[in-house]
Amino acid sequence: MADRPEGGQDPLVLVSNRGPIQYSRDGDERTAKPGHGGLVTALAGLAGHLDDAVWVCTALSEEDAAVSREHNGAAFEEEGVGPGLRLRMVELDAEAQHQFYAVVSNPLLWFIQHHLWDLGSTPDITRREIDAFEDGYVAVNELVADAVVEEVEARGGRATVMVQDYHFYVMPERVRARCPEVFLHHFVHIPWPAPEAWLVLPPAMRASVLNGLLGNDVVAFHLQRSARNFVLGCQELLGLEVDLDRFTVTAGDRTVAARWYPISVDPDELGATAASPAVADHERRLAERRRDHLVLRVDRSDPSKNILRGFRAFDTLLDDHPELAERVTFLALVQPSRGDVPQYVEYLERIRRLVADVNLKHGTSDWQPIQLGLEGDFDEVVAAYKLYDVLMVNPVSDGMNLVAKEAVLVNQRDGVLALSENAGAHEELGEHAVTLHPFDIQQQADALFEALMMGGDDRRDRLARCAAQVRQNDVARWLRTQLDDVRALREAR
Ligand code: F6P
Repeated sequence: MADRPEGGQDPLVLVSNRGPIQYSRDGDERTAKPGHGGLVTALAGLAGHLDDAVWVCTALSEEDAAVSREHNGAAFEEEGVGPGLRLRMVELDAEAQHQFYAVVSNPLLWFIQHHLWDLGSTPDITRREIDAFEDGYVAVNELVADAVVEEVEARGGRATVMVQDYHFYVMPERVRARCPEVFLHHFVHIPWPAPEAWLVLPPAMRASVLNGLLGNDVVAFHLQRSARNFVLGCQELLGLEVDLDRFTVTAGDRTVAARWYPISVDPDELGATAASPAVADHERRLAERRRDHLVLRVDRSDPSKNILRGFRAFDTLLDDHPELAERVTFLALVQPSRGDVPQYVEYLERIRRLVADVNLKHGTSDWQPIQLGLEGDFDEVVAAYKLYDVLMVNPVSDGMNLVAKEAVLVNQRDGVLALSENAGAHEELGEHAVTLHPFDIQQQADALFEALMMGGDDRRDRLARCAAQVRQNDVARWLRTQLDDVRALREAR
């Protein structure tokens, strides 16, 4: 990773729900695997470049909880995280964890922020959701706040706390109340919608979310649009004074700044993976199965990813262009996600059913139009990145979408990016992509055809421009600009 942040920083306390390591047990053996997801990978880049930092996360597995107990809930060194960065896992009560993660964070907040509720019939806010907010979401935020406060106090009260995501909206206010000198920076990795979207939450809950976030010094997003929506939300829903030119909110005697930093990937690390023997094995296997054209998608099984409409667009493409029969395959590498949330279980089931229907309708004795892989093997994903002719990324709404940024770095077939206008990545890459309108299935089918048939020079040029953009705005830059701004804002305070 080029241009990493230098050492000599203020002490740092990172906070996220999913941590950099997840432990599991097989018989007598304990294994430690890196936590998955773009957020974890991006922040892991800090390891080895810090003098004094701790990463506070929740204990997600039983083995995480066991490790946490072995350290009496305190921070510990973990080889897999790297020097200078200790790990602290907060053990949660199982029922509180379920309410926090599977009732409030996902789906309630996630669905609001990605516009996924079908408001004529869902969500219902009943005693269950109200209790889950208090006894799960707020309770877990308070428990994690306790751990953060201890870490801040152990560093003389002057640490910078960098909180990640929608799991911890009400925590900063609680940390601020106990550590007034702390610098709190909160990165929200998912879109922040316009104020109306928040009306789904009862007034007390939405005020709690916004007031919680206003405990921060900085609330950061991927896009300017989200930062603006956040400031507008504080004005319209809390009646606070805001400055829409400076993107600030006045909260009592403090000023809270909204900022935006588009997250990215580490090109060198991805390049090394792409050159590995494990990826080469997958490449050989995929190459043997390929037809004239390969369409690829890579996603978690999340309704925000719009996987069903993507398959229906492919079905339409095959209806409209019978000449493509047996010549094109749609490889969908879908990682099952959030299996403890009913909406996600149902979504995965619908994906399986639709794939079976499309294959039954168009398939032949030796051609399956859609190949669905549910293994979530990153080496296979990278091999597929190298081989696609068209990459479909069609989310309903997405904070950034790192698949689009990763794939263009390693593709070797002048592959065309077909990218939803509602993915955060569209701001940087849309100019060189074929734009998809996520609700318009016919348009997506036509766009897939256009991308498949595009001439060689155009394809090469677009791919090169996408890759150059990602290289220029890599994850090191994402981290560095935030840390530089933190330093400047701290000094100005
Ligand atoms: O998009 C937000 C995010 O936190 C990503 O960083 C990550 O890939 C995903 O959500 C993970 O979700 P979960 O931790 O629920 O599996």
